[in-house]
Amino acid sequence: MTTPILEMQGIGKRFPGVVALDEVDLEVCPGEILGLAGENGAGKSTLMKILGGIYQPDAGRLRIDGRRTVIRSVSDAISRGIGFIHQELNVLDNLDVAENIFLGREPTWGGPLRLVDRRKLHAEADVYLKRLGLEISSWTPLKNLSIAQQQMVEIAKALSLNARILIMDEPTSSLTLTETARLLEVAKELKAQGVSIIYISHRLGEITDLADRAVVLRDGRNAGVLAREEINHDAIVRLMVGRDLDRFYAHAATAGKPQYFEVRDLRTIRYPSHRVSFDVAQGEILGFAGLVGAGRSEAAQAIFGVEAAIGGTVLLDGKQIKILSAKDAIAHNIYLVSEDRRRTGLIVDMAIRENITLPALWGYAQAGLIDRLAERKVSTEMCGKLNIKAPSIETKAANLSGGNQQKVVLAKWLSLNPKVLIFDEPTRGIDVGAKAEIYQLMRTLAESGVAIIMISSDMEEILGESDRVAVMHEGVITGILKRDECSEEAIMRLAVGHR
Ligand SMILES: Nc1ncnc2c1ncn2[C@@H]1O[C@H](COP(=O)(O)OP(=O)(O)OP(=O)(O)O)[C@@H](O)[C@H]1O
Ligand SMILES: [Mg+2]
Repeated sequence: MTTPILEMQGIGKRFPGVVALDEVDLEVCPGEILGLAGENGAGKSTLMKILGGIYQPDAGRLRIDGRRTVIRSVSDAISRGIGFIHQELNVLDNLDVAENIFLGREPTWGGPLRLVDRRKLHAEADVYLKRLGLEISSWTPLKNLSIAQQQMVEIAKALSLNARILIMDEPTSSLTLTETARLLEVAKELKAQGVSIIYISHRLGEITDLADRAVVLRDGRNAGVLAREEINHDAIVRLMVGRDLDRFYAHAATAGKPQYFEVRDLRTIRYPSHRVSFDVAQGEILGFAGLVGAGRSEAAQAIFGVEAAIGGTVLLDGKQIKILSAKDAIAHNIYLVSEDRRRTGLIVDMAIRENITLPALWGYAQAGLIDRLAERKVSTEMCGKLNIKAPSIETKAANLSGGNQQKVVLAKWLSLNPKVLIFDEPTRGIDVGAKAEIYQLMRTLAESGVAIIMISSDMEEILGESDRVAVMHEGVITGILKRDECSEEAIMRLAVGHR
């Protein structure tokens, strides 16, 4: 066997109230793609942050190319060839692609003023964009790029820093089908070029597809390693949760009031000349499928009143209602669980309890006093229901793992007795076990009479969870499929614009 490029041995890391990692081992060989799996909060990101120089371990050793190494800082990690594509992207919106790639290392003219040599900067950036097969100009400001493209820029940056070990922490969780396929291709190409990759994902199909070996963590410990030929969905799940999972999708069609929630001729700023009409029954989960930019989130935001609709009517239980702002929607018990938890879903500096009860604060604030007891009770209940992993309900949201943050966002809306719930990518970044819990919960809510709209780019989720599926393409609904008409092919055909 060749010497591993990286060996981490006996790694330990504690946070106040949590043992995040306990005696964890991990090895990576040159040119290998190592899959890293585990439930939300299992310690994957923490282990990688230690490798990336963001955290110092409390215990353990690290070897690179067989030599003992201590990684003291992020720049230390970079100089040792470790590149990190984070779970939550941190790009600089106002700078262009080339500036993002070479930030702080811009080529300069020789003179004493050290002016940036812009021609050289862009020429060099183009080399990396080409290597990744990216067809964007290096002059494009980052804010004009999709999340997928921004991620590619991060990868270009890592390559420009000569990364030999590339950490990808849930790189596809915000990408759509086609973008995901492209990213997986890029990972394979990089591997062929000799780069080692540590690949974290809750989409186990990606690990099955890509990984040469898979390491599974459970509760901060090694749960097992799978060789290439042993890697499959069930084997990974078994190591992750320590048992076989029951049937994944809890599907049961329930009949409530038909056309309970109706949207007619909705027009959004992004697609002013297109009209969107659909209805959802009580007890129904209406899936919304489509490629990125199809207008699903825009429609949802217009319905919820965060982005004013420029036309259309909305009816709840047969009565027309006016939604001019999110406040109006909330007053009618219509809620949106948005896709971007960092920007709109979660206040990371606040405790779990505060996040969960925030939108209902007026409810807890009878006579001007916040009813702490009620607040605590609801928060504790929701944490239990959703299995949110945290030392206490007073833990800051910032200190939760990605998937647990998503669950807090969900808890916040579920505690409010919704009539209509719009979920935008509800299980992004959530592990298989928690996914099953969330599906169960959605189904329970539907059965209690809620009309549910579920926007999702996860084909398995759309097929498994929806009673009907509306498919959007460039701002219009190209078709609404009944459950027995749904298949991946039928959805994809509508998603690319065929009717
Ligand atoms: N900065 C921090 N302060 C306190 N606790 C933390 C901190 N970072 C992580 N933790 C805790 O450490 C544990 C491991 O978290 P980690 O983010 O590594 O999980 P993960 O496997 O990446 O999960 P996910 O799949 O949800 O991203 C969790 O219990 C988390 O709440
Ligand atoms: Mg993580």
